[in-house]
Amino acid sequence: MRLLSLRLIISLIVGITLVSLGFSYQQVLLEKRSLRSELERRSEVLGLSLAQSVEKNMDSGSTAGRLQRVVNSFGNREHLLGVAVFDRQGAVLAISPALAFMLRVPPHQVTEAMAANQQQSSFFTLDQTRVHIFATPVHRQDTVVGAVALVHEVDYIHAQNLRTWRQAFLGILVQVFLIVLITLLIVRWSIAGPIARAAQWMRALRMGRISSRQQMPDLDLFKPLAWEVVTFAESLNQARNAAETEARLREAGESSWTADRLAVQIQSRLDGSRLFVVSNREPYIHSRNGKSIEVSVPPSGLVTALEPVLNACDGTWIAHGSGDADSEVVDSHNRLRVPPHDPRYTLRRVWLSKEEEEGYYYGFSNEGLWPLCHIAHTRPIFRERDFQIYQEVNRKFAAAVLEEIANTPKPVVLVQDYHFALLPRMIKEKRPDARVAIFWHIPWPNPESFGICPWQRQLVDGLLGADLIGFHIQSHCNNFLQTVDRVVESRIEGDHFAVLRQNHRTIVRPFPISVELADDESVFVPARYDTNYQERSALMHSLGVESAFLGIGVDRVDYTKGIHERFRAIERFLEKYPKYQGRFTFVQIGAPSRTHIKRYHDLLAEVEAEAERINWRFQSGKWKPILFLKRQHSHEEIEVYYRAADLCLVTSLHDGMNLVAKEFLAARKDERGVLILSQFTGAARELRDALLINPYDIDQTAEAIRIALEMEPEEKQMRVHRMRKVIRENNIYRWAANLVTELCELRLDPSDKTKPQHRGSVTAA
Ligand code: G6P
Repeated sequence: MRLLSLRLIISLIVGITLVSLGFSYQQVLLEKRSLRSELERRSEVLGLSLAQSVEKNMDSGSTAGRLQRVVNSFGNREHLLGVAVFDRQGAVLAISPALAFMLRVPPHQVTEAMAANQQQSSFFTLDQTRVHIFATPVHRQDTVVGAVALVHEVDYIHAQNLRTWRQAFLGILVQVFLIVLITLLIVRWSIAGPIARAAQWMRALRMGRISSRQQMPDLDLFKPLAWEVVTFAESLNQARNAAETEARLREAGESSWTADRLAVQIQSRLDGSRLFVVSNREPYIHSRNGKSIEVSVPPSGLVTALEPVLNACDGTWIAHGSGDADSEVVDSHNRLRVPPHDPRYTLRRVWLSKEEEEGYYYGFSNEGLWPLCHIAHTRPIFRERDFQIYQEVNRKFAAAVLEEIANTPKPVVLVQDYHFALLPRMIKEKRPDARVAIFWHIPWPNPESFGICPWQRQLVDGLLGADLIGFHIQSHCNNFLQTVDRVVESRIEGDHFAVLRQNHRTIVRPFPISVELADDESVFVPARYDTNYQERSALMHSLGVESAFLGIGVDRVDYTKGIHERFRAIERFLEKYPKYQGRFTFVQIGAPSRTHIKRYHDLLAEVEAEAERINWRFQSGKWKPILFLKRQHSHEEIEVYYRAADLCLVTSLHDGMNLVAKEFLAARKDERGVLILSQFTGAARELRDALLINPYDIDQTAEAIRIALEMEPEEKQMRVHRMRKVIRENNIYRWAANLVTELCELRLDPSDKTKPQHRGSVTAA
């Protein structure tokens, strides 16, 4: 930095001096020119007036005396050395005394003026003095009879130039000093300071004293660079953590699933091929906000679950481009690299018209299949036109997938969810060498319930095009196999959970989806009363409520989530246990979802009204029983609530898995907090230490709230500890590894490429 400053100072001094000298030189030159022409002009005026006086006096007799008086009267002017009058032969007729010594012979300008009958003006050296002379002829009746000469000294011009140079030098000195000083201050504040802070911060990062981008100091001008450094540092940190975890696990002889292990596993299973994921919902949505474009992550468990998988293997995710600025950020193939701050995989966007979105997404998928599979007392609506559009959109996605996999031999394609029941067959028909799985993220109902769908045969047939169909839990697999048995011609291999139809074999397996909780988070971080207390009071303060106990619920506002039942249970709890009035507040984070559908639109208003009704009944002073936060929150924002809450309420009436339950536990490194969980979620099969409830039983849920608040800390810790262990051992990396491994281990029969055979299931990690 010192060397940089020295170089900067020298460059500034040289640069500023040269530029200023150039300007000063110009200024001196101009000034000199203007002084000289001013002198020439003055000489001419004076000379001509002298010539006139001389002509008048030469006309009358006794000339010499009068001419000397005229000369004397002109002699006393500024910078004038003197004047002289010459006759036609060049003899001096009259001359100022001061000039008499210098001008013994007529200067050539005088003779030239007479010879040419013209004024002469020039600068020259007379007796070692720089002077200016003006000579003009004198006439009598148009005949040149002599000449007059005026001689000015010009040293004052030189002196003035010297003064100007002196001032310029002084100016340059002051300028150089001030500019160098200001530059050094700017360098110190805006460059040296942030660099020193960045260096200090990077050193702390390298030594492991800090770990996240939240702790990044203010780096001023270097912010964009700093973000890159942060990302780089985080990657290094992750790599170091992964290496440490691996080493620890090797040492302990354990085996757990991490992002790095998943990457290695997927790459080895893909064996040079590539992974393609298809889903309706995209992981990043670009939207216009005035002149800028903002990017957001939608509230979807599916997105949360799949991102680590794509990150791990640099695959391609094909999804509906639903943001209003989505088309502005893609390339000519409708692709872009994501995540935006650390691109690791490709997102390929598929565009849908309003009509397509209406029929396929809102209509058949969410008014038909969603309520059909959830059985949550909202009637499915089946419209012929919606199903037609659903088929067309499935074809559109199939075309996009076929385009993406065109140059990839034996691609591995993971189709997601109920939006694409027809897609597996469409892909397999064109690319029998592709390994295609579909994961159904929502429940599969019993065959009687599914049977009300007019197009059940087409849906089941489309799904059976896949080599592998995944559900969260075994009972959904069983329901599906029973539906297949009733709806299409096929042979069900009960022992292997497989279906043989038209020489194609599809296996059906449960893969319980999970969250990211990794082994390096196995370390119990004891709750620190002061930190917890501060975090919670800051949170309460920001919400403007005062309460001793806090409950949390996080959902998309969907009729399957049992939000009404939850609020009624809270009401019942406060009714039954009035001592908690004024002391227990429940925060419901509700992300508005699918509000274009009337049922969802009405539900949002109903939930709000229900919260208001209960608040009206109980609220007092600064306390309210329910806070309904109706907007999408980021993962980071939600984490704060998870960590501060005494309990988390998941009351789904029916749910494939429910990742909120697992996210809550993943956030509780302090092993505190109680999970109250609906027995109708997939998660309830794994999280046996939650307080399991039937959300329709309002009294039971109210009782569970009381039990949760009054549970002994040791009991809470034991339960959370056991559930975190379950999640850690079955985290999202393991889910993805199992799914991909199972799919890649299927053997596609070379003689009949549409007839894959299963070689065996993945070995448990
Ligand atoms: C469920 C579905 C996902 C869906 C998500 C959000 O989790 O299984 O496929 O993405 O809800 O719903 P949305 O309609 O907003 O995508």
